Amino acid sequence: MKHPPYSKRRAQLIAQLGDGVAIVPTAPERVRNRDSHHPYRFDSYFWYLSGFPEPEAVIVLVGGKTPKTILFCREKNEERETWDGFRYGPEAARDAYGFDESYPIAELEQQLPELIANRSTLWHSLGHDAEWDIKIAAALNAVRAQSRAGKRAPGELRDLRGLLDSMRLTKDTHEMAIMRRAADIASAGHARAMRACAPGMAEYELEAELSYEFRKRGADGHAYTPIVASGANACILHYVENNKLLAEHTLVLIDAGCELGGYASDITRTFPVGGRFSAAQRDVYEIVLAAQAAAIAAVKPGAPFMAYHEAALRVLAQGLIDLKLLSGSVDSVIESEAYKPFYMHRTGHWLGLDVHDAGEYKAGEDWVALAPGMTLTVEPGLYIRPGADVPKHLHGIGVRIEDDVFVTADGCDVYTSAPKTVADIEETMRRD
Ligand code: GLY
Ligand code: MN
Ligand code: MN
Repeated sequence: MKHPPYSKRRAQLIAQLGDGVAIVPTAPERVRNRDSHHPYRFDSYFWYLSGFPEPEAVIVLVGGKTPKTILFCREKNEERETWDGFRYGPEAARDAYGFDESYPIAELEQQLPELIANRSTLWHSLGHDAEWDIKIAAALNAVRAQSRAGKRAPGELRDLRGLLDSMRLTKDTHEMAIMRRAADIASAGHARAMRACAPGMAEYELEAELSYEFRKRGADGHAYTPIVASGANACILHYVENNKLLAEHTLVLIDAGCELGGYASDITRTFPVGGRFSAAQRDVYEIVLAAQAAAIAAVKPGAPFMAYHEAALRVLAQGLIDLKLLSGSVDSVIESEAYKPFYMHRTGHWLGLDVHDAGEYKAGEDWVALAPGMTLTVEPGLYIRPGADVPKHLHGIGVRIEDDVFVTADGCDVYTSAPKTVADIEETMRRD
């Protein structure tokens, strides 16, 4: 059965709409150049509520005493299906995806005013898509034009993302199962890149190893543009050129995850191009690994979101002092933000359908308290740029270690598994 998680989510959402109506369009197809399109990717909210893969589709959820779920989608079309592939058509889509009603997408404009008339609230992702904002305004105006016939336009426009983001913040068992598979595939991809790695190869060759493993194992592809950054490139946080050669005594940082069933995995591993860490590389690596362990230990129900970043930061600050990159106490290094040239990002983010997933980080003034089912990355790093005013032997070393975790009843479950300790990485890369 395809629709239980989706129909359950729709019911959960409808229960929060009052007598309002929610409109959730999927993403448009995007032209890449001339008549070629970018690979199609549905809208994450739409997918969360339907699992329906086709473009040109809209969900309408009607709240109130007689709630109903409606799908508008493309009609069957033998000619188009011959060129572009299968289309469900409204009837088959309704049955396969568990909607109460379905109509051709061409009828949406005409039906929308009727659907929203005399409802107090219209729920929509306002400002997300300018074309949709115009369609919503047109539907409201169409209702207002019938005011003498007793039709009343919703007086309240509310952003649907508030409700959906809260729901998406906590993963259900269906989501967790997919995310575990996405993590397994990405972990295998990273291990494959380690095994393939040799001095003189290009960064893009390692990217190719990951891409191969992702597709070979059935993932849809990369969840985001992969970073394969060797040597000092690792100190550029969003390096995506991936076109330099791997030099023998350097490290390579790979930040790559696959998308499977709409869900992202997000893993970073840093390893020596030649298979063995130098003493300086190991020193930096062990600090980041210890920071990650401290952060993971701080991920537990009830902890404020920021606690695991703070835990990582203390270890990184001590490490920077031990490496003689900074002086003073851990508290003073943190207080003065002297660590920032070496660690300038947060220790993680929510993970789900989007790699930087939906969900607030603060509830009012306070950081959100972690709860079971929340899913996040733990990704501390240290980046010592070549120009930094620090001992030469550390120049150009950039290390990040990133895993994905579910918050559980008593802590967290690290569900990514690519080789991570110095010993495991060197063992994975050994050739004999
Ligand atoms: N790959 C994006 C991130 O790690 O946040
Ligand atoms: Mn990442
Ligand atoms: Mn990340």
